[in-house]
Amino acid sequence: MTEQAQYRDPRLVILYDRLNRWGADDDFFLALANETPGCRLLDLGCGTGRLTTALARAGHQVTGLEPARASLEVAQRKPGAEAVCWLQGSAQDAPTAAFDLCLMTAHVAQVFVEDDAWQDVLQHIHRALVPGGRLSFDMRDPAARAWDTWDSAGKRERLTLLDGSEAETWCDVLDVAGPIVSGPVVHFAEHTRFLPGQDVLTSTSRLRFRREDELRASLQAAGFAVEQVYGGWHGEPVGTGCGELVVVARRPG
Ligand SMILES: C[S@@+](CC[C@H](N)C(=O)[O-])C[C@H]1O[C@@H](n2cnc3c(N)ncnc32)[C@H](O)[C@@H]1O
Repeated sequence: MTEQAQYRDPRLVILYDRLNRWGADDDFFLALANETPGCRLLDLGCGTGRLTTALARAGHQVTGLEPARASLEVAQRKPGAEAVCWLQGSAQDAPTAAFDLCLMTAHVAQVFVEDDAWQDVLQHIHRALVPGGRLSFDMRDPAARAWDTWDSAGKRERLTLLDGSEAETWCDVLDVAGPIVSGPVVHFAEHTRFLPGQDVLTSTSRLRFRREDELRASLQAAGFAVEQVYGGWHGEPVGTGCGELVVVARRPG
């Protein structure tokens, strides 16, 4: 088992875009960026560059910052990649006062399990934004208990890859730690077997779920003004959307 192998192992990274298609979340973040034409944008935890390259094709000045080399290599082969500044690293590697908007999409914010690590990331993003710049990210609302549906109880999903070969995937939830009401840490393992009959590759992850009030307090402590917390991708109030907390915050100008 390897922690976060789905982003780090080239054999698994090729599955990411097959499993994570363009959706309402991407529409939301693209529309937010488009409010500032030609905006200087930091995509923190940009992964395989699904959204990063679309943002560049929309005319924004995009930096994709990502710790996993194998994910960056996939991103760099995409149409529009040549217009992106790709950096390997995390928030501490972002340049200072350089961006109008920072995005953390597809639940990157949940990889920061410890409160100190989360606060540190927020402080680096605050530093990387120009005064008046914005931060937006998504977090699964712990009240929606998304993890209840993640364990596939051994049931395997078949995938057909771009080259026509097949794989099967399944998920085990290993542990749900900490009080559910205050945002647990969910430890789970995703298994992949490339067919026919190859070894099983396993990627483990720990994701932290934070409540709306925890997010607001941590953002305020890092110097942000919280502008919006939505419950979904269409501006729904928290608790009435799709189980997301969609945050827009601003570094005061
Ligand atoms: C679910 S993927 C999201 C990728 C991309 N944002 C998207 O919308 O498809 C989570 C990403 O967070 C990255 N990540 C993990 N730890 C990180 C860290 N400490 N700082 C920044 N990104 C990190 C992973 O490597 C992975 O690419």
